[in-house]
Amino acid sequence: MLNIGIIGVGTVGESVIKILKENRDIISARAGKEIRVLKAAVRDLSKKRDVDVPLTDNADEILDDPSIDVVVELMGGIEEAYRIVSKALKNGKGVVTANKALLAYHRYELQNLAKDLPFGFEASVAGGIPIINALKVGLSANHIESLKGIMNGTCNFILTKMMNEGSDFKETLKEAQDLGYAEADPTFDIGGFDAAHKLLILASIAYGIDAKPEDILIEGIENINAEDIAFAKEFNYSIKLLAIAKKVDHKVELRVHPVLIKKDQMIAKVDGVMNGISVIGDRVGETMYYGPGAGGDATASAVISDLIEIARVGKGSPMLGFKRAMESSNLTLMPRSEIISKYYLRMCVYDRPGVLASIAKVFEKYDISINAVLQRPTNEESQKASLLFSTHLCKEEMIQKALDEIESLESVSSRPAMIRIEE
Ligand code: NAP
Ligand code: HSE
Repeated sequence: MLNIGIIGVGTVGESVIKILKENRDIISARAGKEIRVLKAAVRDLSKKRDVDVPLTDNADEILDDPSIDVVVELMGGIEEAYRIVSKALKNGKGVVTANKALLAYHRYELQNLAKDLPFGFEASVAGGIPIINALKVGLSANHIESLKGIMNGTCNFILTKMMNEGSDFKETLKEAQDLGYAEADPTFDIGGFDAAHKLLILASIAYGIDAKPEDILIEGIENINAEDIAFAKEFNYSIKLLAIAKKVDHKVELRVHPVLIKKDQMIAKVDGVMNGISVIGDRVGETMYYGPGAGGDATASAVISDLIEIARVGKGSPMLGFKRAMESSNLTLMPRSEIISKYYLRMCVYDRPGVLASIAKVFEKYDISINAVLQRPTNEESQKASLLFSTHLCKEEMIQKALDEIESLESVSSRPAMIRIEE
């Protein structure tokens, strides 16, 4: 028997309890023993819930219970979850968590605390896709050259509906929340932070990089508008929020932002709440993973896979996939300013002589080469026009400086919008 205590009975917690009950036969057969929920903790005991396990509103009852072998943390948040998970480990219990925000900040401390105790976090990245297992086990003989993926189901759901159905941003976000995809605070999703948390977890396994969200380039989807969607459609692009980790010499670039990506690329076809991750290893070449990135049952499927593994093996394997620190690899985080990309820029300008020339001068000053320009018809009432540019490759530092300067031009009415072009 493996006795577990669950902290958090929301979207994911309820699904875990339900699947453990409804799929008990196959789970017990694969685990070699029964997995039993002894108790679950919630914040508000008065809420109606569709579960039949004993509940408490005091998580310490679970952490201090010597008969509980594994604590399953499904409450979310960072510092209180860190206290709870740390205490579970100090009390000699295994841990399973779906909490990527916790791991984005504390994965290395938790790895040190866990030592040989089992610590499962398959559900923390890409919901139901076993990407952690793929990196820790399946691809462990490879140097990872790059990792590129759609890792936030909520954003992909919103962008797909905006592209395919012309849906409204706010209404579609509400729909994603109702379906249980979004974080308790959905700005984590649409601001790109949730995808960044996941990217940092994968980058730790692939490269041993110990970066925090504040250290990397993160942009969300909140500024994408109908004009960008129309441009994408006209030129055969999809718009996706991508999380990218790439090794360039001895540096690793880590970034999350919306991209324009040609529709015929495999990752551009990943739609709705689905996630898709491409991993290139130096020996295996490109491998691709696809599946539901959010939702109660999909995430619970990953949580329970960790529990079955713990029941089967007992001891933990190295949490982040390496037995000793990876400093011998000499890899460091590439500064944001050095990242190289192509860009699409949208500017709202007053339609009068010399405007295009003044903008072109700024591009020349920062050594930015223009690939294409398009002017949308002028609005007769405001006398403003939209100018759309695409650039050749240039450095992030240069594009940011150019955008600052273009914003200050008297003929430009607001800060230009920018989306990177991914090839
Ligand atoms: P949720 O629906 O908001 O549920 C959170 C649960 O935690 C609630 O039952 C809440 O209690 C409980 N809780 C919060 N603080 C607590 C505390 N201090 N002590 C005891 N219980 C506490 O969240 P969720 O969507 O299930 O997500 C849970 C975790 O899984 C998060 O880390 C999330 O990022 C991650 N995750 C979610 C998904 C998804 O698709 N939803 C996918 C992958 C990973 P009350 O019910 O009483 O408020
Ligand atoms: N809010 C997250 C998403 C849940 O939309 O992808 C899965 O981690």
